[in-house]
Amino acid sequence: MITVNPNYSKLKASYLFSDIARRVKAYQDAHPGSDVIRLGIGDVTEPLPPACIAALHKAVDEMGAAATFRGYGPEQGYGFLREAIAENDFRARGADIGPDEIFVSDGAKCDTGNFQELLGNDAVVAVPDPVYPVYVDTNVMAGRTGEQKDGRYEGLVYLDGNEGNGFVPSPPETRADVAYLCFPNNPTGATATREQLSEWVAWARENKSLLLFDAAYEAFIRDPELPHSIYEIPGAREVAVEFRSFSKTAGFTGLRCAYAVVPKSLRAWMPDGSPADVRAMWTRRHTTKFNGVSYPVQRAAEAVYSPEGKAQCRALVDGYLGNAALVRETLRKRGFKCIGGDNSPYVWVSTGGEDSWSFFDRLLEKAQVVTTPGSGFGRCGEGYVRISAFNSRENVERALERMARI
Ligand code: MLT
Repeated sequence: MITVNPNYSKLKASYLFSDIARRVKAYQDAHPGSDVIRLGIGDVTEPLPPACIAALHKAVDEMGAAATFRGYGPEQGYGFLREAIAENDFRARGADIGPDEIFVSDGAKCDTGNFQELLGNDAVVAVPDPVYPVYVDTNVMAGRTGEQKDGRYEGLVYLDGNEGNGFVPSPPETRADVAYLCFPNNPTGATATREQLSEWVAWARENKSLLLFDAAYEAFIRDPELPHSIYEIPGAREVAVEFRSFSKTAGFTGLRCAYAVVPKSLRAWMPDGSPADVRAMWTRRHTTKFNGVSYPVQRAAEAVYSPEGKAQCRALVDGYLGNAALVRETLRKRGFKCIGGDNSPYVWVSTGGEDSWSFFDRLLEKAQVVTTPGSGFGRCGEGYVRISAFNSRENVERALERMARI
């Protein structure tokens, strides 16, 4: 008799964004022709930067000629891209990361979801609440939690985010072997200062714990005081893995390219207490289960670091940041408490006491605007919705006008 992984039955029936998509479809089926504006899932809407398009075209032509055709590439990514990443994203910011510590992949969602495979089954996992659901669900699938009760899984350490701590929780007081962090934060848009990240690095060093740092929204940081990478914090190379993505930086959600940084000096241990080489383990996993991002896509990602590419990506991100500022300021003037949206594409809006799903439904029905209910990100998200700035300026303006009616 074939049996299945029983941990899947602990999960909610479907993934948050699938739930939302189903509700929106039901609304559209019931109201054919309705003009729904999507400020829900963080999916980009603007076209790819011209520098990336030119690089893609050139690479496709290379694939069409015998002399320049490429088959399987290195699973970890081509040297040209890993070099460009190390130089521009890390060394230029004083972070000591080399190309051989970078692993190119098809998404930060996959990397953050897959990385837990390297951890012991008994690892105690800490997650912020609210939290990007992938960190939680993949640990549930792996059997690192008990059942879900009142919206929380037994065995996980939840770090409450609230207006008191600005949605930047401090390290736990109880044991945790690994902690997931995301800054600028999805879903709240909160950012962490150098001091706050230093506190986390010190905690991880002291407790022999691991930080899994998701920096997918790093390109939205405009405050020069804020760190973009965990490796800007001294001592982080020994305790942190970082995840980055071209999805929001350069509009690659449909093209797919991201990377994980696993430093050579990262410390972790075998069950008998002997040292483990995590970078070698991730190399083994990546080369066994993944065949690399396609050559044209890696060339497009490389173009992000060209002078034109940098200017075009900055303009793209600036456009979304302009939308976020408009959402935040408009809603604040209307009396809503808002967090984020200044160094982040997400604005976290208090519903003023209404439950998140009912506020979501009201916005959908009365304004035909899709948001993301905060409670979908955890118990501490109840009473909030997340508004994404990923849309055209025109649609954001129309959405805000319609929202004034509710
Ligand atoms: C989100 O809306 O939270 C993100 O788009 C999800 C993702 O990047 O996987």
